[in-house]
Amino acid sequence: MTRQALTAGMPTLLARTFAGTAIQARAARRWARTTVAGMAGPDTAGLAEAAIAELLANAVTHSRSGQPGGTVTVIITPGAGGVTVHVHDLGAAGGAVPRPRDAGDEAESGRGLRIVGELSDAWGTRPGAECCHADVGRQAAEPGRCTWFACHPRGHDGGRI
Ligand SMILES: Nc1ncnc2c1ncn2[C@@H]1O[C@H](COP(=O)(O)OP(=O)(O)OP(=O)(O)O)[C@@H](O)[C@H]1O
Ligand SMILES: [Mg+2]
Ligand SMILES: [Zn+2]
Repeated sequence: MTRQALTAGMPTLLARTFAGTAIQARAARRWARTTVAGMAGPDTAGLAEAAIAELLANAVTHSRSGQPGGTVTVIITPGAGGVTVHVHDLGAAGGAVPRPRDAGDEAESGRGLRIVGELSDAWGTRPGAECCHADVGRQAAEPGRCTWFACHPRGHDGGRI
């Protein structure tokens, strides 16, 4: 499903719902990269794509989005020269929520949310019903989860071209 809200020709929100499979996660990542590039340029698109990849992997691995018939919705809004990206999943059966793990440097997992924190300016998570975009791409009554991040173009500190 694609939903666009248009104001004076500028998109204020772009959203798509994907099946919760690895193949669709790749499609979601590509769509998000193209969408963010159009809103905030290629540098931000690169950062956002890497962060989205982690959140999509989490949705498919840790929530009901990865079960047969499961879906995940990606919502992208422009603002202040950057973008805010939401990944809405279907919630975890056991009530687990995204929480950065205190993984050691050698750990092979538990890195995803720390990477999101490094790539973004801010991120957070809340029950899907509490998100202002709760009605996008899903039934508001579903007990899902919103994980979001905001990303702006990075300056080239000391690396001016
Ligand atoms: N969408 C989600 N729903 C429920 N729990 C989640 C979700 N995303 C993450 N979590 C929880 O937060 C923990 C930390 O997530 P994080 O992405 O940092 O590590 P990981 O997914 O376990 O490993 P890695 O990302 O390195 O493969 C997860 O182990 C899981 O318990
Ligand atoms: Mg992860
Ligand atoms: Zn949200």
